[in-house]
Amino acid sequence: MRDVAIAAAKRAGEVAKTYFEQTTLERMTKDDKSFVTIADKEAETAIVACIRDAYPDHGIVGEEGTALNPDSPYQWIIDPIDGTTNFVNGIPIFGTSIALAERREVILGVVYNPVTDSLFVAEKGKGATYNGKPIHVSDQTGEKGLVTFGFGAGHDVRRDELFVSARSSFKSRRTLGSSAIELCYVARGGIEATIMQGLSSWDYAAGALIVTEAGGMVTEHSGAPWRIDSRHLIASNGITHESLKELVQG
Ligand code: 2AM
Ligand code: CA
Repeated sequence: MRDVAIAAAKRAGEVAKTYFEQTTLERMTKDDKSFVTIADKEAETAIVACIRDAYPDHGIVGEEGTALNPDSPYQWIIDPIDGTTNFVNGIPIFGTSIALAERREVILGVVYNPVTDSLFVAEKGKGATYNGKPIHVSDQTGEKGLVTFGFGAGHDVRRDELFVSARSSFKSRRTLGSSAIELCYVARGGIEATIMQGLSSWDYAAGALIVTEAGGMVTEHSGAPWRIDSRHLIASNGITHESLKELVQG
């Protein structure tokens, strides 16, 4: 299943890369006001074809509308391009996110950025890798650390206020525009913490497993364990988790 997920992510990456930096790419607006392009749709189609070929009975849910075999115990949760706004603006911070859940528990996660050729993979209980090499979260405190923010639809937890108040517990703050990539950076040790609001499962399912397999922590804002239907999450290197929780609980 790992190989299928990686092959699918790379296929989607090829599609995205073909359209990246094309100034004529049409930006269509979805009901939730976010952008979608032909690249998102084609990349999702490519992923679905790879998965259906190998596992025709498995379920698939995708950001661009795929909903197949909802009763299967195996559900693939896919985002063809996480960070579409960056993608359409020529900013190379985006990635394909593919997760596999077995009875609602994520057991496999793959995130791939085709521009930087960065591949993050995690399997439940087997650790996380970046381009084939094991990765681990940072051992940095917030004092020297970086926190990022990802806001999707219905960000009902005081977002601007949060950005300001985070200054007291973290040295640097950023909004990178792709929660999947931000989670991978937490896993790789470049970012100490990330705050996510109003997300959907395809934004974080793969990245959340990659963080926990790299030794980090992912919870809901309350501190409760994350689930595939969570919307507001925090992820960290563990060391900063308590202060992160205090921050979002205000
Ligand atoms: P997207 O680029 O695939 O839309 C922005 O920091 C993060 O929030 C990205 O992961 C982005 O994913 C996600 N996001 C933006 N709008 C969203 C929405 N309406 N619902 C869920 N996630 C969203
Ligand atoms: Ca997304």
